Amino acid sequence: MEKFLVQGSGPLNGEIRIGGAKNSALKLMAASLLAEGSTSLNNVPEITDVAIMMELLEAMGVRVQRVGQRIEIDVPDEIEPVAPYSLVERMRASIVVLGPLLSRIGRAKVALPGGDDFGSRPIDMHLQGLEQLGAEFSYEHGDINGRADQLVGAEVFLEFPSVGATENLLMAAVLADGTTVIENAAREPEISDLANFLSKMGAVIEGIGTSRLTIEGVSALHPVSYEVIPDRIEAATYLAALGVCGGELRLIGARSDHMEMLLRKLEEMGMEWSEDEDGLTARVLERLQSVDVSTLPYPGLATDYKPFLVAALCVSQGAGMVTENIFAGRFRYIDELVRMGAEIRAEGRHAVVRGVKRLSGAPVRAHDIRAGAALVVAGLAADGETVISDAHHVDRGYEDLAGKLSSVGAQVTRI
Ligand code: UD1
Repeated sequence: MEKFLVQGSGPLNGEIRIGGAKNSALKLMAASLLAEGSTSLNNVPEITDVAIMMELLEAMGVRVQRVGQRIEIDVPDEIEPVAPYSLVERMRASIVVLGPLLSRIGRAKVALPGGDDFGSRPIDMHLQGLEQLGAEFSYEHGDINGRADQLVGAEVFLEFPSVGATENLLMAAVLADGTTVIENAAREPEISDLANFLSKMGAVIEGIGTSRLTIEGVSALHPVSYEVIPDRIEAATYLAALGVCGGELRLIGARSDHMEMLLRKLEEMGMEWSEDEDGLTARVLERLQSVDVSTLPYPGLATDYKPFLVAALCVSQGAGMVTENIFAGRFRYIDELVRMGAEIRAEGRHAVVRGVKRLSGAPVRAHDIRAGAALVVAGLAADGETVISDAHHVDRGYEDLAGKLSSVGAQVTRI
């Protein structure tokens, strides 16, 4: 079993290249099913989730090949529209093949994803929205069977701006008959990336970047070559590491316009930053100040940033209140931080974090991608050695986290 070995470190100095966004690359790969022929995606990170999506596409009869940071996806005329449990279980995001399969093939059999460490994660909004476009669903043996002879555009009002539901609906609507309007759509940069990719393929989409997406269905899309946006969550991880270690980091490729709220929070905590055409440069000269943190749909603070912010608050000056508004059960790593000497009181959706000067290295466990990365950040601010087990969770979303951090002076290795 792979582990991270982390030692208290700092200050950090140097530059890190930010990879392509996991949460965008996975959806663009699913969207490539919408057009027969060869799609080429650039800046695709070499992480486990992308490997699982490659397996999923291959299981449908699609040829996928990686060449460095590029993947070539060759979609044949006939595909097998099935997402088996063995893959969906390993990656919930597999559910985003539902929309493209229904719109291009008219059939889809997708295993229902189970629960995970975030608490219950229903997909009712995905299904209701697709039903409004004319899809019909039945359930047996743990699978959703979807059918749609021809999807027809409709007005869909999402109860909550769900990232996954917006993506599934967008990918279904591009080949539907007539106009679809998605109201209260999610506005995450990864959704705009998907919409821009679809537009390049020939889709007609208005309102990109807003909460009202209007899609005029077309009869066919064509394959394209496209570059994935940088991963704002990976960038946030290194900013948090800088926050607890001090120093100066250049994040090559990072985009401030995708992480405005986070940068405001970090500024409030005492981080300075500037931007040029190559990316962001951030500096931390003294111990950070505590702030309150509340997660919200974009442009609010992403729930995926929260574990790193909690790790930073553990060693900041003062106390901060953290509120989770997206996922009910996303606090499990807190017990691990407490093992490291953090002063945190959590109840329901809230946690109060009282900063201590240093944490104390301890053996801890990663329960999910971001929680694992947050424990690495905490380990950098701890005396002695932190050993984080279940490192494979982190590999789902990070290409060489240990290597990138050690290249700027952090003491992180894989064992
Ligand atoms: C995506 C991201 C995840 C990020 C999250 C929120 C991927 C692979 N994952 O997840 O990293 O943390 O957005 O920004 O891109 N909900 C329902 N019914 C539904 C769908 C969602 O009730 O049909 C609820 C969820 O339980 C949750 C909220 O809506 O409380 C947001 O979920 P959603 O935005 O859909 O998150 P994901 O797409 O699963």
